[in-house]
Amino acid sequence: MFENLKSQPADKILMLMQAFREDPRENKIDLGVGVYKNAEGVTPVMRAIKAAEHKLWEEQTTKAYVGLAGDPAYSDAMIKLILGDAVERGNVAAAATPGGTGAVRQAFELIKMANPGARVFVSDPTWPNHVSILNYLNIETVVYRYFDRETRGVNFDGMIEDLKTAQKGDVILLHGCCHNPTGANLNAVQWQEVINLLNERGLIPMIDIAYQGFGDGLEEDALGVRLVAANCPETLIAASCSKNFGIYRERTGLLMAVANDAGGQALNQQTLAFLNRQNYSFPPDHGARLVTMILNDEALRADWAAELEETRLGMLTLRQGLADELQRLTGSDRFSFIAQHRGMFSLLGTTPDLVEKMRVDNGIYMVGDSRLNIAGLNAKTVPILAQAIVDAGV
Ligand code: LMR
Repeated sequence: MFENLKSQPADKILMLMQAFREDPRENKIDLGVGVYKNAEGVTPVMRAIKAAEHKLWEEQTTKAYVGLAGDPAYSDAMIKLILGDAVERGNVAAAATPGGTGAVRQAFELIKMANPGARVFVSDPTWPNHVSILNYLNIETVVYRYFDRETRGVNFDGMIEDLKTAQKGDVILLHGCCHNPTGANLNAVQWQEVINLLNERGLIPMIDIAYQGFGDGLEEDALGVRLVAANCPETLIAASCSKNFGIYRERTGLLMAVANDAGGQALNQQTLAFLNRQNYSFPPDHGARLVTMILNDEALRADWAAELEETRLGMLTLRQGLADELQRLTGSDRFSFIAQHRGMFSLLGTTPDLVEKMRVDNGIYMVGDSRLNIAGLNAKTVPILAQAIVDAGV
C-alpha cells in the first residue's frame, strides 16, 4: 500500500522556515512565517497567558473531555470579541477547532456537505493553504482579482467585476482584516459594496479572521466581519487565536456559522459538532480555556489588550520606518504603501527572482511571492532590508 503514495508538494511557507533554520549566516533576517517576534527576535508568551496558565495550573481539577464543540464559554467569549453586538447570539453556532486552519478546514467541509456544487472564490493572492485545502477536498476554486500590483492596494473594480461572475450558492472567501499575504484591506464603503453584491446574487460569505488586533485595533479590525454577519442571511467565520493571543502551538480556533434565525442555528450547531467528531473528536482545550479566562477577567483582559496594542503599534512603527528609509534611499514615494498596509504582512509585489536574490545575497527570507513579515524586523534590520530592496532593484 505505502508504495502507492506520491510525494506531496511542500508548503512554501513552512519550507522557508526550514531553510532559514539551516542557514548558518549570523546576520540572516527571517521575514517568512507569520509568527510575531519582538525586537529581540523572540515570540513571547503574552503576560496574560502566563498569568492564566498559572491560575489554571492551580485551579484545574480535571482533564476530562469537555464537549464536541468545545466549552460553550469559549464560544460565547470569542463570539463577543469578534462579532460584538452585530448579531443575535442565538443565531450563531460555533465550535472550537484546532487553530484557525482547523476552522477553515471544517468550514470547507460544511460547504461541501451543504452544497456539493458550490465553488469557493478566493482572492488573488490568498493564503496558499486555502487553495491547498480546497484542492485536497476537491472543491472547485475560482480566483478573483484583489491585489493591484501597480498601486499595491486593492483592485476593487476588478474584485467586484470578478465576483459578479459568481452564481447563487457560491462561497466568497474574504479576509476579515490584515489580508494575508498582501496587507491591503477593504475600507468600510468597500465592505458595504461587497455585501450588497453578495445579497443581490445570493452568494455566501466566508470570512477568515486570523489577525484581529494587528491592524487598526481590536474593534476596528472587526468592522468588516460585523458588517457582513449583520447584513447577510448566512455567514461562515473561521477565527484564530494563534496570533492575537500568541498561542500558536496550542492550536486554538473557532468556526462560527451565523444563520438568520435560531432554527438554522440549531442545525448548524449539530453539524459543527458532528464534523468535529468525524475529524478529531474533541477539539483541543488548553488554549481555548486560557482565552476564555482572559476574556472573562477584567484585569487579565485589560493587560492582554494592552500588550496586543503595544505589538500593533510596534509593527506600525516598523512599517513607517521601512517606508521612510526607502523614501530616503530612492527619493520616491513608491514604497509608501508599506506604511498604508495593515497587519503582519506586506506584499512587495516583486518577482520570485528578486526575492531569491535577496535571500542569496543578504540572507533575507521572505515568501517567494514577496510577502514580508513586518514583525520579523527591528530598528537595526529596517535599514538593512531597505538597502537590500534597493540593491536588488525592486
Ligand atoms: C502564515 O501565513 O505564515 C501563517 O498563517 C502560518 C501558516 O500556517 O502558514
